[in-house]
Amino acid sequence: MKNKNKNILITGVGGFIGAAVAREFYNKGFTVIGIDDLSSGRIQNVPAGIDFIKTDLSQKKNFKYFPNKCLKILHLAGQSSGEISFDNPEEDLNKNTISTLNLINYGMDKKVERIVYASSMSVYGNYKKKVSEKFQCNPLSCYGISKLAAEKYLKIFQKKLPFISIRMFNVYGPGQDLTNLRQGMISIYLSQLIKKNKVLVKGSKKRVRDFIFIDDVVKAWYQLTFSKKALNMCLNLGTGKATSVERILKILKKNFSGSTFEIRGSTPGDQNFICSNNQKLRKILNFKKFTSVEEGIEKFISHEKK
Ligand SMILES: NC(=O)c1ccc[n+]([C@@H]2O[C@H](COP(=O)([O-])OP(=O)(O)OC[C@H]3O[C@@H](n4cnc5c(N)ncnc54)[C@H](O)[C@@H]3O)[C@@H](O)[C@H]2O)c1
Repeated sequence: MKNKNKNILITGVGGFIGAAVAREFYNKGFTVIGIDDLSSGRIQNVPAGIDFIKTDLSQKKNFKYFPNKCLKILHLAGQSSGEISFDNPEEDLNKNTISTLNLINYGMDKKVERIVYASSMSVYGNYKKKVSEKFQCNPLSCYGISKLAAEKYLKIFQKKLPFISIRMFNVYGPGQDLTNLRQGMISIYLSQLIKKNKVLVKGSKKRVRDFIFIDDVVKAWYQLTFSKKALNMCLNLGTGKATSVERILKILKKNFSGSTFEIRGSTPGDQNFICSNNQKLRKILNFKKFTSVEEGIEKFISHEKK
């Protein structure tokens, strides 16, 4: 395998997206060193075959266990829920910003080629139209603030450690944690449907999101990791298609006969409308077609029913 001697450090490998990205690099023949503190992730998610270090990135002292040589860092560890970020903003800051800053210091020290960062649509806040990377960021949650602050640190140190910040929109699909009813949207509804065929929708069904299927996300992460054009950029990773919560509920209803939906309450810091303008991304990626929500949800359901 030609990539075997190339160390890639991937954080968040016990979580949904980090595990899927790590699996892809491992399957492509890279030596993957996976990091996770398993605070919300699970050991069962860590792909077989990778070297796993269970450690907390927010503690500087833990970096002594990290490899001396590393080609690239893919940083997907973090506290990933806007709703949870309000419970303990300080912990959110440690998990998202301080952890990233520690990783930047490690990357500069070891002369790593680049760091690819899992940022979020949450940095933008509310807009009534599709957001491009040029839009001003006005985060509405502690999560959005800590993700944006991490991006700013990456920018400040880019001369010593080039970066790419991938602002992901709503990622969904197999591997998502169905026991966590406070992160995700499609996964939260699906989890309730599987258990009791009844869903509590927290927030208006008129809300609009940009849902992107996990396989497309993994493909994009792989390509962006090696892209020269993307270096030192913040990039939206979304399909560019605005989908209402109402449409998601309709697709789910079609797949779960007799299911019922109750719309009540809201979650703090929730965005009403968020959808990507992905023109910048499309110029860089060599695939143009994204999985439709119908197809993605059907794949997700059939995976969960296996
Ligand atoms: N899921 C989405 O739709 C989405 C959208 C935009 C951005 N993101 C970002 O992408 C990344 C991955 O998201 P996900 O859905 O896989 O989340 P996830 O919660 O499934 O995974 C995050 C992982 O990071 C680990 N972790 C947290 N703090 C850590 C620390 N200090 N040290 C080591 N490990 C730590 C957790 O144990 C977990 O396994 C996150 O940074 C998230 O903010 C996710």
